[in-house]
Parts: sequence; C-alpha cells; structure tokens
Amino acid sequence: MARSGKVTVVGAGFYGSTTALRLAEYDIFETVVLTDVVDGKAEGLALDMNQSRWVEGFETTIVGQTTGPSGEGYEVIADSSIVVITAGLPRKPGMSRMDLIETNAAIMRQVAENVARYAPDCVVINVANPLDEMTALAHIVTGFPHQRVLGQAGMLDTARFTHFVAEELGVPVGSVTTLTLGSHGDTMVPVASVCSVDGKPLTDLVSAEKVDELVERTRNGGAEIVGLLKTGSAYYAPSAAAARMARAVHEDSGAVMPVCAWVDGEYGLSGAYLGVEAELGKEGVRKVVETPLTDSEKALLVEAYEAVKAKQADVKDL
Ligand code: LAC
Repeated sequence: MARSGKVTVVGAGFYGSTTALRLAEYDIFETVVLTDVVDGKAEGLALDMNQSRWVEGFETTIVGQTTGPSGEGYEVIADSSIVVITAGLPRKPGMSRMDLIETNAAIMRQVAENVARYAPDCVVINVANPLDEMTALAHIVTGFPHQRVLGQAGMLDTARFTHFVAEELGVPVGSVTTLTLGSHGDTMVPVASVCSVDGKPLTDLVSAEKVDELVERTRNGGAEIVGLLKTGSAYYAPSAAAARMARAVHEDSGAVMPVCAWVDGEYGLSGAYLGVEAELGKEGVRKVVETPLTDSEKALLVEAYEAVKAKQADVKDL
C-alpha cells in the first residue's frame, strides 16, 4: 500500500510516543503528528524518531507540536483521518483506573474540543482511562457519530490473556486464541469458551482453576505492571494494540478486533460504550460483531454493560 494520509497521536508520554513510533514504523502514513502540552517534548521526540528512519528503513515523517491551553498549535492536526488520544494521567500503584476519572475528564474535554475543531472528519481512538468512560466523553464532546469514536482496551486485554496462556503452556503466542470483552476494569469478561491452543479448547488443556487464575491475572494485568514500575503504567502492549486499530482504520481492512464500541441492540444491549468485537474500517466501527457466548459469559457481559452504562451516565457532567 502506498504511503498516505496523516494520523495524530495526542499526548507524548510513553504510551503516546510509543504509539507514534509504531505507526511511523508501519511506513504506511505520509505523516504522524505527535502533540503534547509540555513545551518542546513532542518536537524533541519527533526529531529523535525521524533520525531513526534511516536505520529502521521507513519514510513516514513525524511532526512534533507543543499545544497550548486554548488550542494553540492544534492547526497541525488538520486533515488527520485518525486521532489517537492518549492525553491523561496514568495510574499510580494502588489506584484503580476509576480514580483518574475527574482529572482525565478535564483533560479529555479540552483535547476532544480541539480535535473536533481541527480534524472534524477523523476517527477518534481513545486510550485514556477510565477507558470506557473517557471514550463516552470523547463522543459527547466531539459530537461525532458513535462509529467514529472508539476505545482501545479489548485488544490489550486479549493480548495479555494470550501471553499468559502461552507462557503457562509453553507454546508460541501465535498458536493461542483468546478473547476478552466487557469493560477495561473490574468487569472485564475473558471469554474462555472461545479460547483455544492450536484449535484445541483451552478448557481441555488446563483445569478450570487454572483458567480462573489466568483470567484473574489478565483482569489485573495493568495493575500488576503499575505495581512493578511504581511510576507510570504499561505502554508497549497498549501502544501495539492502539496502533493496530489505527492501522485497520487507515487501511479500511475490515479486521474484527475486540474494542470499546457503542452498542445499539447487539446482545440485546443498547446505549453504552462497551468492550465488544467490531469490524473496523475507514469510518471507524463498521459494525459490532456478536460473538457467541455461553450463558454465564453473557451474564458477565450484561453485568459489565450495566456497570459502564451507569458510570457513563455521569460523564457528561464531568
Ligand atoms: C493498562 C492501562 C494502559 O491496562 O489501562 O495497562
């Protein structure tokens, strides 16, 4: 595919800058824009990334831009077809993602207003936490159609679950299929019934207790890393997940991925952003795909939906 178009990553912390570099290394975009509110940070990182182009063999250029509180600098994102929003604070050890809601909502409001103003036709991929609520807020503030606002979480949680299964069984990650739906939080729903290793059901390969243990580790996957790092949160797997979603949108690929998307009747659930599988294309979410679930998985998904829906009802006031 020829190189084309512009993708923006808002926020040049570890998550944002790693996402920007991954997107640039795909070598499918003309330009990757990286912005941050810290003076010179995005420019400095962009310059450094551009200097890696010859070594890594990619031609995409990275443009860094400091932005101001009233939207100064945002002109640079004009004509972006995709904007990945990573702006916001990460967790500290002991914090839940929900503890970030007020601080990150204020940041999201400012960012989303400027995104809507300067890149009104883009697809927004939110990664800020608490994920499901910040995605809902990005939708409210931008006023974009639901399908053009989505969040990254299911890809990451699925990647973590896959890693834990591969490690437990000593098999390549490529032979493992897993899936997580629901929220990016306490009501995450790992879908054990569709998990397999080389086509064999996971539940035939390990005990039910072991599956529960792997599921629990997946649910706490982010907190485990926050606890080890002590400052900041995970970014290698999260940025890989976000960049793959952006790539699917850019290439209009129709790839089906677990993402945070608006449900409108699927599974009998409506009116909330929830972790589901969805087909991605240049309009964002082409459609939500209903994965066959067991009764108990469906019950957990409904529980997740009720939890995120209740929280999302409050985000408009934040
Ligand atoms: C995590 C954060 C990024 O799960 O939500 O690591």
